[in-house]
Amino acid sequence: MHCIRKRSVISLLTLFIAGASFSFGAGADIQAPVVSGGDSALVLAHPEIYHAGWIDLNRNGVRDPYEDPAVPIEGRINDLLARMTREERIGQLYQLQMKEETPARDAALIGAGGIGSYLGAAPAPGLRNRIQRIAVEDSRLGIPLIFGFDTIHGFRTVFPIPLALSCAWAPDLLERTQAFAAAESAGAGVDWVFAPMVDIARDPRWGRIAEGSGEDPWLGAKMAAASVRGLQGSQPDQAGRVAACLKHYVGYGAAEGGSDYNTTEIGLPTLRNIYLPPFRAGVEAGAATVMSAFNCLNGVPASANRFTLTHVLRDEWRFGGFVVSDWSAVGELIHHGYAADKAQAAEFALRAGVDMEMVSDCYPSCLPGLLEKGIVAGDVLDTAVRRVLRVKLARGLFERPYATAVSVDSAAGASLAREAVARACVLLKNDRGTLPLAKAGSIALIGPLAADRHNLLGCWYGLGRDEDAVTLQEGLAAAFSGARITTVAGCDLTGGDRSGFDGAVAAAGQADVVIAALGEPSIYSGENSSRSSLDLPGVQTDLFKAVAATGKPVVTVLFAGRPLAVPEVVERSAAVLMAWHPGLQAGNGIADILSGKAGPSGRLTATFPRSIGQVPVHYNHLPTGRTLHPYRDGPRAPLFPFGYGLTYTHFSYGPTRLSAPSIDRAGMLTVTATLTNDGPRAGIEVVQLYLRAYACSAGPRPVRELKGFQRVCLAPGETREVSFTLAANELGCWSPDGVWLVEPGRFAAVVAPDSASGAPVDFVLER
Ligand code: BGC
Repeated sequence: MHCIRKRSVISLLTLFIAGASFSFGAGADIQAPVVSGGDSALVLAHPEIYHAGWIDLNRNGVRDPYEDPAVPIEGRINDLLARMTREERIGQLYQLQMKEETPARDAALIGAGGIGSYLGAAPAPGLRNRIQRIAVEDSRLGIPLIFGFDTIHGFRTVFPIPLALSCAWAPDLLERTQAFAAAESAGAGVDWVFAPMVDIARDPRWGRIAEGSGEDPWLGAKMAAASVRGLQGSQPDQAGRVAACLKHYVGYGAAEGGSDYNTTEIGLPTLRNIYLPPFRAGVEAGAATVMSAFNCLNGVPASANRFTLTHVLRDEWRFGGFVVSDWSAVGELIHHGYAADKAQAAEFALRAGVDMEMVSDCYPSCLPGLLEKGIVAGDVLDTAVRRVLRVKLARGLFERPYATAVSVDSAAGASLAREAVARACVLLKNDRGTLPLAKAGSIALIGPLAADRHNLLGCWYGLGRDEDAVTLQEGLAAAFSGARITTVAGCDLTGGDRSGFDGAVAAAGQADVVIAALGEPSIYSGENSSRSSLDLPGVQTDLFKAVAATGKPVVTVLFAGRPLAVPEVVERSAAVLMAWHPGLQAGNGIADILSGKAGPSGRLTATFPRSIGQVPVHYNHLPTGRTLHPYRDGPRAPLFPFGYGLTYTHFSYGPTRLSAPSIDRAGMLTVTATLTNDGPRAGIEVVQLYLRAYACSAGPRPVRELKGFQRVCLAPGETREVSFTLAANELGCWSPDGVWLVEPGRFAAVVAPDSASGAPVDFVLER
């Protein structure tokens, strides 16, 4: 075993050209990463911890083909694989958590090529580079490790939670926030992030609804692709970008009872048309990796599900990157009652298509024996190893194994985050033009989230720091400098103490307007944070009622990681703004909306139920044989439908018009409505196009399906014709066996402000 490795900085240009020839999919070019210098630049870690950067793998004067960036990637993989022992191959499929003690604890393992990846890289790039040095310099073949981290909605600069970002209905904005997060992550030594989460979620009890883009597959697909483009850039080895990971494949969001990790049963038409499309879009955008989920799907755990992992992902979609299991999901095949022991867990997962095992150790401990006995064939192992090496080579890790500093313009990040907060907020109610608030006067800012920092960040906040969060109180103080602002928490987020109510009521009584800052703590959403109620936790509703009883107008700002069922609060508030968990710029972005500096333009991407008994409730439900009646004890209609959101002006829609009453298979249909801003201010309307297919032999289609949207900005009094063009091919759906089926028949289209409005107009797709 030799390990003499000669390093030298070689031509950057050569490597960029060499690396530029490979991609996992059809990722579109986007703007350069957000990296710049200047006074406001934040260098994320001390330069000393960084290696010189590019290295020449040439050893002993001989450059083997796998070490030569001029050799095409598949040739490099073939050459390297031929040199690898069985143990080194298995090692590539093993991922462990990085810890302070890793260099000492794992030195022998890494040096023997017994591990391929670590997760949790970000907090310590110096440690990351020390570990990498063992792999690159002390192992026989010098295969670099790949370091992963959960950068979900920002790394140091924390943006709104993904559900909030989706409410901006702006894939370009998501792409920019993800590009910024990628630059910050890459600068701290992260090669690979476990994002985007593209699980469709129809049940707000499930805490991980916060991490995705809501309930709609069409919008979810747009967001998945935008997120991948933002994270990865246009080339897999682009500096300042990271490899993406589509998760959690698949069906994880359909957990029974909304309980995280619970079993899912999803019929094939729904799997194909609702849960799979965002993953497919992410694969088509070039995502380097996919994460297999924890849940059992239709009787087979997702991390041993050959149908989804191989048949759909590989055979149908031609995915070329690698699949990593979720945390211990391979070992958990035993808990699922699917595998009898670790050996079976390794066998089932690898054969199904899980290439890398996260944290549990079934692969390293059992694959040698399984291979010896012929239970797992050598080529199954090699296929998985190839996929891992492909991602490492494509990312340029062999040439740039060490973290290199990326300077990030933190001021630009803060202003992007502030913009994102304002655009993610959804105005749910605004009686008699309560908002925007007049500049002067007195404000009583009441509620446990008035001056809170930590809970603004939401779940998964990376390296975000509480002290960098702008509270609502601070945001309001800056925006309403002439106003007298009295802040009273009144109660805490989840407790039962009402002793602060009197102070809150007194402050409300003396103010012109009350701003109630209410909601959920951040730990109420995210992983393993399901709820059995969708109310405001603790005594917050009682606090709200006490304050509202003063008769002062109450503007309620809701902070949460999920839709809430709060009809009473909505009823008795003069205005309601859904702010989600908005990240570090919370106070500034919300104040921009409340003051009218920015107009609200967010729209819900997940239905707000009226009560928890309605759950799951989503706009794109299937038609039924008989009419669904109201519940005996309540209405069927949700509190707010998908697509809903108000502005500071008023938009009127003319009737939906079609370019023709019928089209043929090669035809195009133009769907138009006249939009008028007949309110007092300029505003942005998110104009939505919905479709209905009345009959489909592959299974009924939903009563409405989103097929397009446009953000239209109109001045007061301005009118515009808003048109969408639909190709006949867009009228189809996925058959249970994965064929895109376009059947002739009767359809309807409507241009509307949300999923529950507008009068659809029929048309025919001819034979
Ligand atoms: C979560 C994933 C996450 C992984 C690594 C798991 O528990 O389900 O979403 O990426 O941990 O931290």
